[in-house]
Amino acid sequence: MADEDEVLFQITRKHLDTGLRGFPVGTCGTSAVDPVQGVSYVGYPIAELYDVEPEAAVYLLFEKHLPSADELAAFKADLRARVGMPSSVVTALKSLPRDGHPMEWFISGLLYLGMTTKTGDYAEDARNLVARSTELVAAIFRIRNGWGEPIAPDPSLGLIEDFVRMLGIPGADPERVTAVLRSFYVLHMDHGGGNLSTFVGKAVASGHADLYASLAGAMAALYGPLHGRANQDALDFVRRVGTDDPDAVEAFVRKTLDEGGKIYGFGHAVLRAEDPRATVQYEVGRRTCPDDPLFRTALVLRERAVKVLSGIDKVSNPYPNVDAVSGTLLHAVGLTDSSTYTVLFGLSRVVGIAAQIIDERVRARGGKGVAIYRPKFIAANQPRRSLKG
Ligand code: MLT
Repeated sequence: MADEDEVLFQITRKHLDTGLRGFPVGTCGTSAVDPVQGVSYVGYPIAELYDVEPEAAVYLLFEKHLPSADELAAFKADLRARVGMPSSVVTALKSLPRDGHPMEWFISGLLYLGMTTKTGDYAEDARNLVARSTELVAAIFRIRNGWGEPIAPDPSLGLIEDFVRMLGIPGADPERVTAVLRSFYVLHMDHGGGNLSTFVGKAVASGHADLYASLAGAMAALYGPLHGRANQDALDFVRRVGTDDPDAVEAFVRKTLDEGGKIYGFGHAVLRAEDPRATVQYEVGRRTCPDDPLFRTALVLRERAVKVLSGIDKVSNPYPNVDAVSGTLLHAVGLTDSSTYTVLFGLSRVVGIAAQIIDERVRARGGKGVAIYRPKFIAANQPRRSLKG
């Protein structure tokens, strides 16, 4: 039994305006982030989980244990029975401005799906959304990229196999796309309770907004370049490096830093070692696209950027994070538009955020749910004034 009076954190004035960095504010039953070991889902290190069936990882986060063979079969059947979004969602997507960012499309699509299909029951809506979000994302990719009409789901297929089929990436090898997207999906599902999008999603839900509105808020948070959109910037950075010659790569990194630029895909707010989600993806790359030029550049950056960043005193974590290599794998299998990468992150992160929202709304505090989020902000530069003089 935890000691309810245990002091977990002492807040002083220097902690104010630091984005709640490190403040304990709640409990999380889905995943934990250790600064050195990285993320684990319900106790399982991510490196052991990344090639489980995607539906088994979803089940783990929702139910807090890995499914037996029977449980997995029943869960997959349940999800597949839910596929199929209203055709009006596609009509709505087609009316969106083509130059809107794919994340703006995704957020709009989530809200539209909510308006047309929500039940108001968090657990029910979460299952519906996991079953239907692959169709939503595939439709966004096809319409925005001009790849043709959206492709209807095939309920006989697994979640990611069907997603790859519905994407229909022109000229791509479905087996390689599936290998990359399966691991990408599992690796990005959850990252503790305090990453920005998860925190925002739970905060919105704490006012009893429905799951779709809460996730739209969460995805707006993920859209920021300091959070999920960093995977787009990281691939663009690898492209700019433009070589896999180790010395030239190192020179590029040094020059970028000298000019005040950023080394995208390196460092993290919590981690202090190589992100295991990056470690896994380097291995996936060695298997799926070992000779791809951008992947080879990412491999060299793994060594040379760390070397350069390690020599800078104020850098607390010089190591690759999840974004350092993910874009190069997506690019290698035919997803060449980096502006779509955060949508793939969001497609996956929806799972962990939904699982945490269910825990906070339906299970926490003996079913009462976590209270509405209401942290205190200390008034600053507001001397008492009066209009009466
Ligand atoms: C994430 O996966 O959400 C990112 O690594 C950011 C974070 O954990 O704060």
